[in-house]
Amino acid sequence: MAFEWNEKYSLNIEEIDNQHKQLMAIGKKAYDIAILDDGYDRYDEIMTIIDELLDYTKYHFEYEENMLKKYNYGHIHEQEEEHGFYIYKINEVASREDLDDNQRKVILEIIEFLSQWITQHIMVADRQYAVFLKTVD
Ligand SMILES: [Fe+2]
Ligand SMILES: [Fe+2]
Repeated sequence: MAFEWNEKYSLNIEEIDNQHKQLMAIGKKAYDIAILDDGYDRYDEIMTIIDELLDYTKYHFEYEENMLKKYNYGHIHEQEEEHGFYIYKINEVASREDLDDNQRKVILEIIEFLSQWITQHIMVADRQYAVFLKTVD
């Protein structure tokens, strides 16, 4: 996954698509570091990516959950549970003591994690609420 936006990811909700594009942009930064594979110290860049990811995640999940509450979405608990897992996972990576010594391993893990987020959450659970929202609009 090279983290390029593709229309197949679109949920046809402009604000949500923009926020998901933001996730892709963070993924692209991680990907760009990974393909360099030049052995340089990328600690600061990796920490910046993790910080951005935490900020984005907090903002985006709150936005989605508030929106879904407003429309009494029936599967909101699935959303909250999956969101909780992603936040747990980012915090787990961010607090890892061996991060500096395992930079490449960590960056590849972040990529894998973001790919899963896109294919398993955005393309499944988020798509499900998007279909629902079209019916109540
Ligand atoms: Fe989302
Ligand atoms: Fe979501």
